Amino acid sequence: MIKITNGAYTYGSQTGFHDVNLQIQSGEAVCIMGPNGSGKSTLLKTIVGLFSLEKGKYVFNNQQIDKTFLSDSDNTGPFYQQFGFVFQNSDVQLFNTSVNDELAFGPEHLGLSKEDVQQRVNDCLKLLKIERLRDRVPYHLSGGEQKLVAIASVLTMNPDIIILDEPFNGLSPKYRALITQIVKQLHHAGKTIIISSHHFNQIRSLVDRVYVFSEDHTITREITADQLEEMPRFIDYLDNL
Ligand SMILES: Nc1ncnc2c1ncn2[C@@H]1O[C@H](COP(=O)(O)OP(=O)(O)OP(=O)(O)O)[C@@H](O)[C@H]1O
Ligand SMILES: [Mg+2]
Repeated sequence: MIKITNGAYTYGSQTGFHDVNLQIQSGEAVCIMGPNGSGKSTLLKTIVGLFSLEKGKYVFNNQQIDKTFLSDSDNTGPFYQQFGFVFQNSDVQLFNTSVNDELAFGPEHLGLSKEDVQQRVNDCLKLLKIERLRDRVPYHLSGGEQKLVAIASVLTMNPDIIILDEPFNGLSPKYRALITQIVKQLHHAGKTIIISSHHFNQIRSLVDRVYVFSEDHTITREITADQLEEMPRFIDYLDNL
């Protein structure tokens, strides 16, 4: 489904990532780990088509995703619709004047009826236990509240592939447990999950496979969750990145 071969992206003279090889099948749950600044967010933004590779190849469902593909809006609409992306910084994601409008924005653009949109909004507010935030201004919310609203606003679109960039940051243990439970349910329902994290134990029960970036901005390990369970010292390393 998602295949990147020898992929590289740079910001001017600053390397985002290089020589990255990654393959994710439909319905898998995968974690991207690695130190600060190693390239996780840049890779996730490339997968959803916010950046195009400068070197190498990205193929999504037999379609090459490159500058030409991404510059044609006939392509990008259906392509973007498959992904729900929760940004690492929620404040860049939220731009509506109420939480209700924020959650309604995505499904409204999918052409659903007003009633169906409101039903999805209500369901997601309830799922994330944030009904109390419905009429608040997203910009005024705390960091943790913004994160929950950002996750809810992605779930209202019911995308096939859910990408979460450090979703647990700033959340209390109670909400971390709730998000874990929701991501598990989504995975069991057949969604593809890609998640980045600095703490293996946070995502341990969620993922099938882990890709590990080094400080040198490239993926140096790919390992299954089952293999990891036999490697307590490596788990210790991955839990303290
Ligand atoms: N807009 C930008 N302009 C220039 N360099 C950038 C930009 N965004 C990221 N970088 C650089 O690209 C590299 C990879 O950054 P990225 O944000 O992908 O890392 P990360 O692994 O997500 O880090 P973190 O764990 O801190 O979120 C870093 O060296 C970073 O400084
Ligand atoms: Mg990041």
